[in-house]
Amino acid sequence: MSTYDLIVIGAGPGGYVCAIRAAQLGLKVACVEGRETLGGTCLNVGCIPSKALLHASHLLHETHENFDKMGLTGAHVTVDWTKMQGYKAETVAGNTKGIEFLFKKNKIDWIKGWAEIEGPGKVKVGDTVHETKNIVIASGSEPASLRGVEVDNAGGVVVDSTGALALPQIPKSMVVIGAGVIGLELGSVYARLGAEVTVVEFLDIITPGMDGEVQKQFQKILTKQGLKFVLGAAVSGVTTGQDGAKVAYTLRKDDSEHVIEAETVLVATGRRPYVAGLGLDKVGVELTERGFVKVDGHWQTSVKGIYAIGDAVPGPMLAHKAEDEGMAVAEVIAGKHGHVNYDVIPGVIYTTPEVASVGLTEEAAKETGRKIKVGKFPFMGNARAKALFQAEGFVKMIADAETDRVLGCHIIGPGAGELIHEVCVAMEFGASAEDIALTCHAHPTCSEAVREAALACGDGAIHV
Ligand code: FAD
Ligand code: NAI
Repeated sequence: MSTYDLIVIGAGPGGYVCAIRAAQLGLKVACVEGRETLGGTCLNVGCIPSKALLHASHLLHETHENFDKMGLTGAHVTVDWTKMQGYKAETVAGNTKGIEFLFKKNKIDWIKGWAEIEGPGKVKVGDTVHETKNIVIASGSEPASLRGVEVDNAGGVVVDSTGALALPQIPKSMVVIGAGVIGLELGSVYARLGAEVTVVEFLDIITPGMDGEVQKQFQKILTKQGLKFVLGAAVSGVTTGQDGAKVAYTLRKDDSEHVIEAETVLVATGRRPYVAGLGLDKVGVELTERGFVKVDGHWQTSVKGIYAIGDAVPGPMLAHKAEDEGMAVAEVIAGKHGHVNYDVIPGVIYTTPEVASVGLTEEAAKETGRKIKVGKFPFMGNARAKALFQAEGFVKMIADAETDRVLGCHIIGPGAGELIHEVCVAMEFGASAEDIALTCHAHPTCSEAVREAALACGDGAIHV
């Protein structure tokens, strides 16, 4: 039994990135993972498989909707679901094996099994207690449950995101409970594959927390794509029968009760931290009211030498946020200055069009009491977006009215998930909207729309 400098619990994007950075900084590192493969939720049942299905179903949609318009004609493309699942599995395997390779390259021991913390410096896996100077909890999250709804992923009728990524067949109809990121991404996948998709959401809006104008435009575009929305609806229960399931809900505006039937029901009402089996109460690691691990500004828990990062701690449940914390905490443990700028963490929804945001929404910026400028540019004025049949969205830039400093940006349009990063870099450098507006952007690119929105914060955009 060896003594480590660091044992990381969980090999998701938080844990594996932490382990790699710590090893690069000269620490002797092990990572405990109970799953068969490395990569956590993200690589196995989250970001990667969902993006594979989004990509495949997007291309199918293109062949059906746009190919003919471009003079690309021929036999109608159909779906081989088994093969599509195979493509998804290969994409996942390629990435999880990649992490295994990186562990070997960086001489990180993968301790296979489920970890329990026996005390500071002691991690038990199976019958073995491993000794270490530091512990990082990166145990991630799991789907939140919904009262009155029993998820059975193996049954394939009432499923969470994990079940929805591997349905036995493409359902004819699907009810999605929750109009958040998972509901809209996976709802889009199945709508494009031919299912009739209805999204039932408790609030009167979709994607809570996003900029209000983006929410409205996004809902409009998804509705045009065939998704139906029932908003302001409290789901009271789901019952299963031979042909699928019945979802009962009450409309909050008038208390009227309704039932909707579907072959498959996807429950996507959020995720909660996963800390089961870690023995945190025994060791004295404190949790927040909502069950997240409490940490200080250096990701240290209430117990010295035990740190926590990623979905297990408060903050946005995003892979890149977990990765950034993983790198930063490794640096802190190695005696350096780890830092995460929580004001500049982008969020992306990988539908078509994509939706991306960073920094303050218009509503949040106004709430701070400062004077702001809003520069908006529609993709209708962008030549490239028009050629892609994706000119329905816009870029919206929020800047401080006095200093012109960029406070936030919200994009709904082609490649929004890539476009947002120039604004992230600009914000990290404390740039003004004028800095972006004065930067030459190649033509014809969708990025020009970002520059135009920045120009709209000043003397005006050109192509409107
Ligand atoms: P996780 O990835 O959850 O990894 C934690 C790991 O710890 C797991 O492998 C678990 O088995 C292991 N573990 C837990 N307890 C123990 C223990 N006691 N012993 C040993 N091992 C243990 N985020 C994005 O940024 N972009 C996306 O596009 C995106 N898409 C998503 C799509 C879906 C369907 C879902 C469900 C999530 C998606 N997310 C996305 C969120 C993203 O997956 C998470 O934010 C991210 O995985 C969190 O990383 P983590 O390292 O904190 O935890
Ligand atoms: P979410 O928090 O994004 O959305 C949940 C939705 O369900 C909300 O709109 C909420 O109002 C609604 N809701 C809650 N209870 C309800 C009820 N009883 N009836 C009807 N609606 C109800 O959570 P989601 O979509 O499950 O995703 C979980 C996490 O995974 C998110 O925090 C997200 O950050 C992450 N994720 C990120 C992705 C990305 O970055 N592209 C993709 C998928 C997930």
